[in-house]
Amino acid sequence: MIGVTGSTGQLGSRIVARLAGVPLRLIVRDPGRAPSVPGASVAQAAYGEHAALLNALDGVDVLMLLSATESADRVALHKATVDAAVAAGVRRIVYTSFVGASPGATFTFARDHWHTEQHIRSTGVEFTFLRDNLYLDFVSGGVGEDGTIRGPAGDGRVAAVSRDDVAAVAATVLRSASPGAGSDEHAGATYDLTGPRAFTLSEAAAVLTDVWGRKVRYEPETLDEAFRSRESYGAPAWEVAGWVTSYAAIASGELSQVSTAVRDITGVEPTGFEEYVRAQ
Ligand SMILES: NC(=O)c1ccc[n+]([C@@H]2O[C@H](COP(=O)([O-])OP(=O)(O)OC[C@H]3O[C@@H](n4cnc5c(N)ncnc54)[C@H](OP(=O)(O)O)[C@@H]3O)[C@@H](O)[C@H]2O)c1
Repeated sequence: MIGVTGSTGQLGSRIVARLAGVPLRLIVRDPGRAPSVPGASVAQAAYGEHAALLNALDGVDVLMLLSATESADRVALHKATVDAAVAAGVRRIVYTSFVGASPGATFTFARDHWHTEQHIRSTGVEFTFLRDNLYLDFVSGGVGEDGTIRGPAGDGRVAAVSRDDVAAVAATVLRSASPGAGSDEHAGATYDLTGPRAFTLSEAAAVLTDVWGRKVRYEPETLDEAFRSRESYGAPAWEVAGWVTSYAAIASGELSQVSTAVRDITGVEPTGFEEYVRAQ
């Protein structure tokens, strides 16, 4: 049985839709919002709820662990969820991490992923890490009402990836990890999941101008300007830092590496930015 967390969300729903017919356990906070998938049972548990997770994970062999919504205690929630999975007898954890996950990553949220990866490794459980680049909608979603993308991304490049491509990889990896699936070359692997090319935000603005038929421009900010412009939202400091450093990570070049993993694993070329925007 494959257990999947986060199936009420944008990525998780795409993953479970690709696993129809496979014995599945959807582990959700609100069963009333669980997607309807043939072959799936539903169990209620939030990350970090040990007893509920033990119950929800009963009989689960392979767990698709989606990273939680960003919060100040996200790493603790991830660690507690991993511990519950190990205690429940889960053999493999497939975890959605982030490219360049490291304790000193420019993108502060990527540090959470490194700490989670390290914890998973420390338990000795089998793992596969899917290190996603930024999702493609990060770019189009960052356009303000005045048609301007503002952020401290300099002229750096980002090899953003679509959620559909990440979901296709995840479903392939999960199927191959199931008992009886034959060879499983994904055990112990870490994959960078990216789009087909890395682009600057100026290039993205040009694509959006063309496809949307209205002027979109990119206006680079300094780090100081970026923090100040987001002060008025009233968000906690850790969250503002995450927003700002997602752009700073583009400037640093840490998100520019293009990988062949999507094509290698699924046999299909990943979706590019323009193709993605035209399909919306
Ligand atoms: N690479 C990127 O650009 C990027 C962008 C955004 C997010 N992410 C990360 O990737 C993850 C998946 O992305 P997404 O687009 O699918 O996000 P999403 O649509 O917000 O979905 C998040 C899913 O995780 C569940 N979840 C979050 N916190 C949880 C908790 N504490 N306990 C149990 N379930 C929890 C949510 O459940 P509910 O429905 O109950 O809330 C939802 O099903 C995100 O959670 C985030 O960590 C990456």
